[in-house]
Amino acid sequence: MIRKIKGTYDVLPEEINKWHNLETVMRNVATLFNFQEIRTPIFEASELFHRSVGETTDIVKKETYDFLDRGKRLNTLRPEGTASVVRSVIENKLYTEENLPLKLYYYGPMFRYERPQKGRQRQFHQFGAEIIGTNSPLSDVEIINFAATFLEALKIDKIKIRINTLGDKESKDNYRVALNEYLDKHIHKLCSDCNRRYKENPLRVLDCKVDKDSETLKNAPKPLDYLSDRAKMHFDQVLASLDQMKLNYVIDSNLVRGLDYYTHTVFEIESDLETLGAQATLVGGGRYNNLYSSLDGPDLPAMGFAFGVERLLLALEAIDSDTKKQPLHCYFINLGNPLETDALKIINDLRHGGLVVDYDFLNKSLKAQFKQADRLNARYYLIYGDEEAKKQVINVKDSETKEQVEVKLDELYQYLYNCLTNKSCSKSCDGCEGC
Ligand code: HAM
Repeated sequence: MIRKIKGTYDVLPEEINKWHNLETVMRNVATLFNFQEIRTPIFEASELFHRSVGETTDIVKKETYDFLDRGKRLNTLRPEGTASVVRSVIENKLYTEENLPLKLYYYGPMFRYERPQKGRQRQFHQFGAEIIGTNSPLSDVEIINFAATFLEALKIDKIKIRINTLGDKESKDNYRVALNEYLDKHIHKLCSDCNRRYKENPLRVLDCKVDKDSETLKNAPKPLDYLSDRAKMHFDQVLASLDQMKLNYVIDSNLVRGLDYYTHTVFEIESDLETLGAQATLVGGGRYNNLYSSLDGPDLPAMGFAFGVERLLLALEAIDSDTKKQPLHCYFINLGNPLETDALKIINDLRHGGLVVDYDFLNKSLKAQFKQADRLNARYYLIYGDEEAKKQVINVKDSETKEQVEVKLDELYQYLYNCLTNKSCSKSCDGCEGC
């Protein structure tokens, strides 16, 4: 038997409603904030991720799915969405003056070769949003507020917003000097991965998850202490606006994020819901003011976030969220051979009117058809055979009250519609209570 690849999973029909509900909330909240969807390919030229996410990041160093296509070009399955959006905005010249700021969102599978565990897969989904073309601190707040509102709409509370700033280029340069000085003295105490990162990109040392290193890294200089006046003013304005919106946050001076492109504000939101296990970060994001120009595009400041959808679904398991099931309005029970009556036409007419209808393909017994209708949770059974066909009527049985009425075929749709919407008929049909 061929099995699924490690770190991937199937979403089975019994789970799909949770996904649909989450996707509906996602699109509704995106619409409230006036974001538009963008869809980009799931694979891109490898160079795009090397030059954006960063050569020295764990993602590019150890986690990308790279492959040579038949034309010997090196491609990569996207490990995240931001780089692809940047590529697309530049390539499609979406950055005309009247278009800016662009407010885009995306949703889809991402791929990282990580060690699979609860809340961490090799194929996972992200819902991301980006505001492109403005450096206003208000757009930082719009992004953070969008993320928090989405969680609120999903009824995920118990959240913690952690925020920090890396500052502008000048701040980052000053900080790098201070960090290098500190690491020069302490690097011998740190793990081998830290030693490698130190040579390639000292900032990445701060991503270290090894427990014994944390004490040394806790005392390392913090980006907040090396901010230029401009960067400090930007961050102060972000915090003041968050305060005004009554969004609670904590400043986490150790938060640097695992991708190279960030400048200024970075943030993460985590939840302590027990179903999340160790992977408690639901969303991460930040400002990236130099990425467009570094990918040969115009000078466009930008800010965004990405949620891990699987983690949101894990969080929802802890909450009593009532997932709407797909309704089955009617199950059509054939007393004879449907090919010898107009059964298929009746079913089709109801479907064209917007009713969800199913029926048996296998010529099952009457009892088996009722059983199937119950298994599928049908609201009404429609019972039809040669006799009914001759009289141009159909028997409609309510699965809850068990009452059965005979309804004329040309009144069937209206009858069902009224019953399902709790109205009596506009025409007299003899079937409705109100008629
Ligand atoms: P990231 O922090 O790498 O940021 O990923 C964002 C979120 O994706 C994480 O917080 C987590 O919920 C989810 N995630 C990441 N890796 C996995 C995995 N292997 N399995 C399950 N979930 C995962 C970014 O990707 C940036 N592009 C975010 C951004 C957008 N920054 C600016 N704009």
